[in-house]
Amino acid sequence: MFPTIGFIGCGNMGSALARAVRTSDPTAELFFANRSPDKAQALAAELGGQTQTNEWIAANCSLIFLGVKPQLMGEVLSALSPILSGRTDRFVLLTMAAGLTMQTIRTMAQGQYPVARIMPNTPCAIGAGVVQLCSLDLTQVEREELNALLSGSGLVDELDEALIDAACAVSGCGPAFAYLFLDALAQGGICCGLPQDKALLYAAKMLEGAARLAAQSDLTPEQLKQAVCSPGGATIQGVHALENADFANTVMEAVKAAYKRTLELK
Ligand SMILES: NC(=O)c1ccc[n+]([C@@H]2O[C@H](COP(=O)([O-])OP(=O)(O)OC[C@H]3O[C@@H](n4cnc5c(N)ncnc54)[C@H](OP(=O)(O)O)[C@@H]3O)[C@@H](O)[C@H]2O)c1
Repeated sequence: MFPTIGFIGCGNMGSALARAVRTSDPTAELFFANRSPDKAQALAAELGGQTQTNEWIAANCSLIFLGVKPQLMGEVLSALSPILSGRTDRFVLLTMAAGLTMQTIRTMAQGQYPVARIMPNTPCAIGAGVVQLCSLDLTQVEREELNALLSGSGLVDELDEALIDAACAVSGCGPAFAYLFLDALAQGGICCGLPQDKALLYAAKMLEGAARLAAQSDLTPEQLKQAVCSPGGATIQGVHALENADFANTVMEAVKAAYKRTLELK
């Protein structure tokens, strides 16, 4: 069980997950530490909780979210290892770092501690994210509690750690790809005479609806696409223009490039 939950690193993702945890559990005891203290202070004021040091969180919290960049994880954990090794109670380290395995986290922390790994994305900030979860080290009760805590961030899905880098390339990095497409759609609308605010709104709501329909439908994306393309109509001309520009191949290459970089970060 996790009576005290600490966040080391309160940047984009740490704060998004802290908000999700607060949504899921309005009474959880939350503690925040960040290199520049203003982010931790702002989060503590917003969500209710206390600012603390990394050391205090390492010594006292039963669930410790590690929200620092992968490149800084070794430095942060090695500084905390004497504190972690002195604990006699059970605690779980929760890593969200792209590319770092659970065994790497244990090695960096210099102990065979229970580690859970998640791969979140930025829409977690509004409860519409995707979080892959590897929780082999956890007890059944801990797993259920962690699932419940994370559920405020969106879809939580258990995944074998061997697949988490691939998941990162799709749903972790994917929002950036989606925003490129969204912006280009809106710019196209502006070219055709739509005001900027309406072009952006229509493009965003269209993508949201299309994604929800695809997630709920038994039809494949190809079949859903065909349903929009009337013979001789407008849509098929747009699809043809995208295909001529090698759109599908370019998107696949983007996912593969992100995957390759994730592997390099290990
Ligand atoms: N962003 C994404 O879409 C995404 C998706 C999946 C996974 N992730 C993972 O999430 C983690 C955080 O990424 P992010 O995008 O949230 O980065 P970020 O916004 O830069 O947040 C990192 C935070 O860590 C703090 N920090 C740095 N050194 C610290 C230390 N020694 N002690 C305490 N806090 C420290 C930074 O403080 P300062 O304010 O002083 O810089 C910053 O607030 C990474 O491991 C990343 O791989 C991110």
